[in-house]
Amino acid sequence: MSGFSAEWLALREPYDAQARNPVVRDAVIAAFNGYPSIRIVDLACGTGSTLRALAPRLPAHQNWRLADNDLSLLARASATACPEGVTVTAVPLDLNRDLEAALDGPADLITASALLDLVSQAWLERLAVETVVRSTPLYAVLSYDGRIEIAPADSCDAAIIAAVNAHQRIDKGFGPALGPGAASFASARFESLGYLVVHGKSDWVMGSDDRDIQMELLASWASAAREVGGLSPSDAVAWLTRRRDAVNAGRSSIRVGHVDVFARPIGRR
Ligand SMILES: C[S@@+](CC[C@H](N)C(=O)[O-])C[C@H]1O[C@@H](n2cnc3c(N)ncnc32)[C@H](O)[C@@H]1O
Repeated sequence: MSGFSAEWLALREPYDAQARNPVVRDAVIAAFNGYPSIRIVDLACGTGSTLRALAPRLPAHQNWRLADNDLSLLARASATACPEGVTVTAVPLDLNRDLEAALDGPADLITASALLDLVSQAWLERLAVETVVRSTPLYAVLSYDGRIEIAPADSCDAAIIAAVNAHQRIDKGFGPALGPGAASFASARFESLGYLVVHGKSDWVMGSDDRDIQMELLASWASAAREVGGLSPSDAVAWLTRRRDAVNAGRSSIRVGHVDVFARPIGRR
């Protein structure tokens, strides 16, 4: 499964839904309480997980503009079954080149899920400026923050985790990625631009029964280690074999650190 494949996004969606920080989410919901309608731009929407997670909690009349450069994912997102009163418009574009076009038009809220850790500091700076000039709130969730805990412990875990965090900083199409530093950079930047920021952890928690997602994660981490050269290919394979054995034996659990951020102009609820 590739990092953005529909299969991977479907596998992670229930973990994302469970992980979303309730305090941060409730601040978003409170900000729009009493609104008759709301217009949302979702950046890098994938198959529409933010729409599915948030629509039931927002005012009944909603217009979502879903932006992504993957037409296949966008088509799936547009096909999401929505309650009456919720309309969806697909916006196919490259957010690195055309962020400003994606934000064009009236919007009450900008959302992004699992995006900020992919982008560069320069791009996040652009997003912050474009958001603030429009006085629009931003709800950006599930940014990986560099914390990985795996049990039972293995002598190669530290090398793998260091390699994963180095890999996170490789260019993903937006310039050198902020990776684990993205959420803290975003919080600090929005605060410095005069926004009120609420943030909180939104970790994935995987127990011994969550075998499919653990298998996918472990394989992707071994590949990342091979790519950045954190440990020898044979050590990475041996690590993955031990880890897969633990998953199959029902002895493996994993926590992956994420952070959710809600930034809004001061003076708004
Ligand atoms: C990790 S996925 C997250 C998808 C979705 N937000 C979710 O939480 O399930 C990252 C998304 O960013 C999109 N993406 C990556 N680079 C992009 C770019 N340059 N322009 C627009 N979308 C991009 C991918 O197509 C993918 O849908």
